[in-house]
Amino acid sequence: MLSRVLAFGLLAMAASWAISAKTLTGRQVFALTCHVCHAGGVAGAPPLGDVKAWRPHLAKGLRVLEAHAIHGYYGYSFMPPKGGDESLTDQEVRAAVKYMVASVRPGRRLDPRQ
Ligand code: HEC
Repeated sequence: MLSRVLAFGLLAMAASWAISAKTLTGRQVFALTCHVCHAGGVAGAPPLGDVKAWRPHLAKGLRVLEAHAIHGYYGYSFMPPKGGDESLTDQEVRAAVKYMVASVRPGRRLDPRQ
């Protein structure tokens, strides 16, 4: 009995490790989900690397942008919660926001680890 409990505990640990090991980087989340709208500016989405389009969004500050990306946001258009992919964690969505914001900060190269 005890060995069963132990085996289950080990399995659970291994499973949670596998899940956390799969956390996506901002670049991966962008490539997976956000690019659908934020690569070409679909429905008015500010495109990656477009400084002018991002200016009014950046003015709100990173924390607001992260919250809007996670929970969704109606402005002049509609940003769906987590880009419509509920399987993304809040952390992954935040990483994707940072990745996009970094693309429009002059003088700052994109960090491939983000
Ligand atoms: C279905 C299209 C679509 C997808 C997919 C999408 N977005 Fe957006 N996003 C938009 C649109 C449209 C806006 C502009 C909303 C507005 O300001 O009215 C926007 C705006 C934003 C903003 C600025 C919000 C603000 O308050 O100004 C951020 C940050 C953002 N998106 C992040 C993301 C991230 C991160 C992903 C991927 C997880 C993503 N988006 C996926 C359409 C999309």
